[in-house]
Amino acid sequence: MTEKINDLLRRVEEFKPKAEAEIEEFRIRILGKKGELTALMEEFKTVSPELKRELGQKINKLKSRAMERVNELKASFKNTPASSSSIGDMTRPGTNDTIGSRHPIAVVKNEMLAIFERMGYTVADGPEVEDDWHVFSALNFPPEHPARDMQDTFFIQRSPDILLRTHTSSIQVRTMETHKPPIRVVCPGRVYRNESISYRSHCMFHQVEGLYIDENVSFADLKQSIEYFVKEFFGEDAVIRLRPSYFPFTEPSAEVDVSCVLCGGKGCQVCKHTGWLEIMGCGMVDPNVLESCGIDPKKYTGFAFGMGIERSAMLKYGVKDLRLFFENDVRFLNQFDSAL
Ligand code: PHE
Repeated sequence: MTEKINDLLRRVEEFKPKAEAEIEEFRIRILGKKGELTALMEEFKTVSPELKRELGQKINKLKSRAMERVNELKASFKNTPASSSSIGDMTRPGTNDTIGSRHPIAVVKNEMLAIFERMGYTVADGPEVEDDWHVFSALNFPPEHPARDMQDTFFIQRSPDILLRTHTSSIQVRTMETHKPPIRVVCPGRVYRNESISYRSHCMFHQVEGLYIDENVSFADLKQSIEYFVKEFFGEDAVIRLRPSYFPFTEPSAEVDVSCVLCGGKGCQVCKHTGWLEIMGCGMVDPNVLESCGIDPKKYTGFAFGMGIERSAMLKYGVKDLRLFFENDVRFLNQFDSAL
């Protein structure tokens, strides 16, 4: 047995591979499960107890030497002539690990939610694939009503009842159905509309909508809340104006304009020289909606509002093309990280 061990040790020392692949073959032949060393170990079990100590040490030495040799040989093939030391050039500057950054839409969304959370709102979530009831019917869009055309909808082919939500108002319906007033929620999420893709519109985008229902909620509360949000988000100097508008689920309804964040209201290309930018829709929740969702409209009133995240992100960061948010070019995305 000693002879066998010595013979194998000699072959390990003398092995000179011509190609790297030979090393792995050699390793398997010697150290593999069915290799020569394993066979020796088996044989070792049968040797007399007096010899065990001496032979055991020899086999162990052989095994570690063989593993060492395999590693040495592998390393010698890896070292190109230019860097013969396995450590490499210690004076070369290191490469920094690149750390990912938050998507600008997430940054802006978190900032919006944080402002509403400070006002006592909680965040609610809901599905993107919805049914007609939660997106339209419960929100006072009668079947065949032309208001349904305001939001060009993607339907699921198999059922006209199932669709991609066109606004996160569907989450507000779900909240009203399952919670009793007072209700104060903000509903962020992705929405889909069958619109052509351009620098200012896309077939999917993100919204933050809000809902406040309690006794004696008035339009003055709505205006005050929006004003607070706008000043927190766009800055103290921002002012708002409300223009009458129409939504089936609110009455009265309004469109909120903010004084142009770029020119301060003097007029520029972005605000089309009007000094104002439209940022959200809002209004007092229509009593029909409250009723559909099981809330007594004689006892409770409420307001709702909704805005697009992309639009506000474009204004905040001066991004001129909405499509950039969806292309996931890291050179674009890296510019917006924040602690939020
Ligand atoms: N859901 C409306 C939209 O997506 C926005 C809105 C929400 C308007 C709440 C009024 C009240 O266009």
